[in-house]
Amino acid sequence: MNTRVKGKVAIVTGGAGGIGSATGLLLCEEGASVVLVDRDAAALDAVAGDIRGKVAGAQVLTILADVSQDPEARRIVEETLAKFGRIDVLVNNAGVREYWRLADAPAESWQNILGVNLLSYAFMAKAALPALRQSGKGSIVNLSSTYGVSGRAGMGQYDATKAGILALTRTLAFEEADSGVRVNAVCPGYTLTPFHVRQAESKGRTGDELRSEKVDACLMKRWSDPREVAYPILWLASDEASYMTASTLMVDGGRPVV
Ligand SMILES: NC(=O)c1ccc[n+]([C@@H]2O[C@H](COP(=O)([O-])OP(=O)(O)OC[C@H]3O[C@@H](n4cnc5c(N)ncnc54)[C@H](O)[C@@H]3O)[C@@H](O)[C@H]2O)c1
Repeated sequence: MNTRVKGKVAIVTGGAGGIGSATGLLLCEEGASVVLVDRDAAALDAVAGDIRGKVAGAQVLTILADVSQDPEARRIVEETLAKFGRIDVLVNNAGVREYWRLADAPAESWQNILGVNLLSYAFMAKAALPALRQSGKGSIVNLSSTYGVSGRAGMGQYDATKAGILALTRTLAFEEADSGVRVNAVCPGYTLTPFHVRQAESKGRTGDELRSEKVDACLMKRWSDPREVAYPILWLASDEASYMTASTLMVDGGRPVV
């Protein structure tokens, strides 16, 4: 067995999604006990089953929850501590998308995206911090986006939450430096997940067509696989990244320089 996070307990929000499930699998492969949190019960069961099938002896707990709700964050931490007794890693990864131009964006869409993409990161961090401090080597990894650092038209609400996550990451890193909890952000670029495949299929294209498409927006001219984002998350979660805090790690095939 690989041991890069052996003995650690990691919570992954949005753990049933593309990047979340790849991260959950990789953390398990490297020896962590993993808590997958999601609001999609069927996907959660499927991902947990897949991990148990691939990793002998995998320690996986699934928690069905809406992470945008503060009391749910406290319940997730309580259930994790009841099962595993400690928390070393929090991967704030749950995310939703809204596609309004800002001039047209309804208030409910703002409330929805702020609740999931920004408030859940704050609620989960607040609830998990006492246990992360006790760990002595706690690590929070927040999923932002390549569009958290640059602009475009059409997804301003999403991009605002992703920029907000970077500010939240820096402030938490300041505030927790003395407690030993490291806080970093990962900014994925074009990452091909089942969400994108479903979206393409609804427009009459196949997943394979999408996968082989040339992505001109980045230097590498292709989509990434979720596992290529999971590896940098694993590294930031592990003790290998012991001098990393308050960082913004771009995992986007070189998009901002194009
Ligand atoms: N895929 C990309 O191209 C890309 C690019 C940049 C950033 N990101 C970010 O990475 C993260 C993961 O992205 P992904 O593509 O894997 O997304 P995804 O849509 O595949 O998965 C997101 C998961 O979050 C869950 N979720 C949504 N709202 C929730 C809530 N209120 N409570 C609990 N679970 C909830 C969904 O059910 C889903 O399983 C997101 O924060 C996303 O913004 C993704």
